[in-house]
Amino acid sequence: MVTKRPVLVGVVVASALALAACGGARSEGTATASGGAQKYTIKFSHVVAPSAPKGKAALKFKELAESKSGGRLEVQVFSNSELYGDKDEFQALQSNSAQMLAPSTAKFTTVAPEVQVLDLPFLFDKPEDIAKIAAPETKVGKAIFDNQKLAAKNMKPLGLWDAGLKHLSSNKPMKSPADLAGLKMRIQPSDVLKVQFQTWKANPTPMAFSEVYNAMQQGVVDGGENPWSNIESQKMHTVQKHITESGHGYLGYILVINNTFYNGLPDDLKKVVTDAAKESGDYNRQVAEEVNQESKKKIQAAGTTTIYTPTDAERKALKDAVVPAVWNQFKDLIGAEIIDELLKAQAS
Ligand code: LMR
Repeated sequence: MVTKRPVLVGVVVASALALAACGGARSEGTATASGGAQKYTIKFSHVVAPSAPKGKAALKFKELAESKSGGRLEVQVFSNSELYGDKDEFQALQSNSAQMLAPSTAKFTTVAPEVQVLDLPFLFDKPEDIAKIAAPETKVGKAIFDNQKLAAKNMKPLGLWDAGLKHLSSNKPMKSPADLAGLKMRIQPSDVLKVQFQTWKANPTPMAFSEVYNAMQQGVVDGGENPWSNIESQKMHTVQKHITESGHGYLGYILVINNTFYNGLPDDLKKVVTDAAKESGDYNRQVAEEVNQESKKKIQAAGTTTIYTPTDAERKALKDAVVPAVWNQFKDLIGAEIIDELLKAQAS
């Protein structure tokens, strides 16, 4: 849908001067000299629209980092997979072609599979529960912020950002697990999501986010799952006749920075980055639900899609089909202790 554009950073010559001036301490080619003060450029790549909760938070991060650093940090934000998409963004981060990303937890499946804990279906009943269950001091939070596999891959987590709760969309009404049987549903490449849809007897099809609209339009897939903001900003509702407001799963992001790049920053700029990440994360959580509700209204106004809100009994039937069945299958991968604790919290 969106073409990849080459990016001109335009700092190569200046960065060579800067490296000479600072004794060659840096080698990433993102530092430049301007009036004597060393400048650093962060390329922040993501796959959603600038208007989505992640897109807004990325722009807030840029605003805060640039102003707090007095212009010594420049943040270039690339949205809608225009620089890197799902298939190449981790590679770009590791090669330092991009310095920051905010992929969904599902997309860390091969990098750090434990973070899929946040993809477990029906982990949250309402958006307000997210901050409590995933706070950094909780077991779930530790699976993200103290994750050794992320560290081993040279990624430093800076925050957890929300998109919100996902809803089901397709061209068929979906009220019960039986309605999902046989539907070809696009998923993010995550084992948890694969098993979730298989347990509902649907056919999960992993696909990059930038390909979803076309796949729905051409009938390559019947449907998918996403929060209102992604459905609306990618115009998926124009090619999906039905949305069930199931709120059956969470979509959230781990904000990560290339650790070598981060460690090469002077201490005061490291603090600017972590402070801006914290504040943009707070902002993200404040606006995510509001953005989702605005998107829902736009979808209603477009009149292309029937929105169905399941009754409590219908939502329970969808949930009972996958909890604890799906959760139990990931005890080895995610950790039996975390799963048991989360199941206990569900029961209480
Ligand atoms: C998806 O692929 O559906 C989402 O992860 C996109 C995103 O980053 O919100």
